[in-house]
Amino acid sequence: MPRTEPATGAQLGPDGRLHHLITLEGLDRRLVETLLDFAADLRERCRAGARRLPLIEDRTIISLFYEPSTRTRVSFELAARRLGAQQVNFDVANSSVNKGENMSDTLATLEAMGCDAFVIRHGENGMPGNLAGLTRGATVINAGDGNHAHPTQGLLDLLTIRDRKGRIEGLNIVICGDIRHSRVARSDVHGLHTCGAARIHLCGPPELLPEPSGFPDCAIVEDFDSALDGADVVIMLRLQMERMQHLSGLNTDVYFRRYGLNSERLAHARPDALVMHPGPMNRGVEIAADVADGPQSAILDQVSNGIFVRMAVLVTLLGNSAYGHRV
Ligand code: CP
Repeated sequence: MPRTEPATGAQLGPDGRLHHLITLEGLDRRLVETLLDFAADLRERCRAGARRLPLIEDRTIISLFYEPSTRTRVSFELAARRLGAQQVNFDVANSSVNKGENMSDTLATLEAMGCDAFVIRHGENGMPGNLAGLTRGATVINAGDGNHAHPTQGLLDLLTIRDRKGRIEGLNIVICGDIRHSRVARSDVHGLHTCGAARIHLCGPPELLPEPSGFPDCAIVEDFDSALDGADVVIMLRLQMERMQHLSGLNTDVYFRRYGLNSERLAHARPDALVMHPGPMNRGVEIAADVADGPQSAILDQVSNGIFVRMAVLVTLLGNSAYGHRV
């Protein structure tokens, strides 16, 4: 059973401002909405032609990914470069980690080289939060830890919903799939509750549903069709086979028939329901290709928004208060 309640580390610095981003849990609504507004503002400036917004050009950011990633790693890199920062992708596989160096020594070594911020993905719940408590001033941003949290994914999902629905307040949300192993579900739920979503249904087969105590104020259900009734937003999640040794016999055809989102099933939701998926997607397992590529899909908007949300987070955590966005 995965652990879901690690220490998150203090997110605020001595000045009371946000210094690390480990989880959306406990962040207040004003802060979350300020980050979303800032991301939308940066997006507008980029789309108006700004190729580069050198708001943190004196900063050095190192990404340490102990688990695979396409979207998060590349969008943090693009965000940092667009903001003028020096950005380094630490090559875990070819580093002294393989000679037995532990993570805190690795971080201390990189911080001694002048690193201002670490972007960390790790398979173990709580690792970025624990490391945040060990740095000598450098910022830590959680790029996804175990099944605990993925705060920038949560923020980009909120921005995508707000863009397409005009609000988050009062919406009916369904999150379907492998909730038990999902850090995205946890960060989405924290952000959606903070921003006033009316109803959140978590749906999946019993073996992939979470302990209810970890999700107060959510309805946890097995029947996907009834959960979809009246849904404004449907967030599909990947089956995380790498985290479910005990379910290696899971039949993906049977799963798709019961929990895959196809166009007939989507018709149970509101006609203008938004379809989302954090990726990577398994077409024909969680979602039919025509739905993933269809007019209700916001999946590529999620990807695009990831760059602007990560720019907003980097400037908020590392930028000078003169930008007016340090909170
Ligand atoms: N959504 C997400 O975290 O994707 P990656 O694993 O590709 O970063």
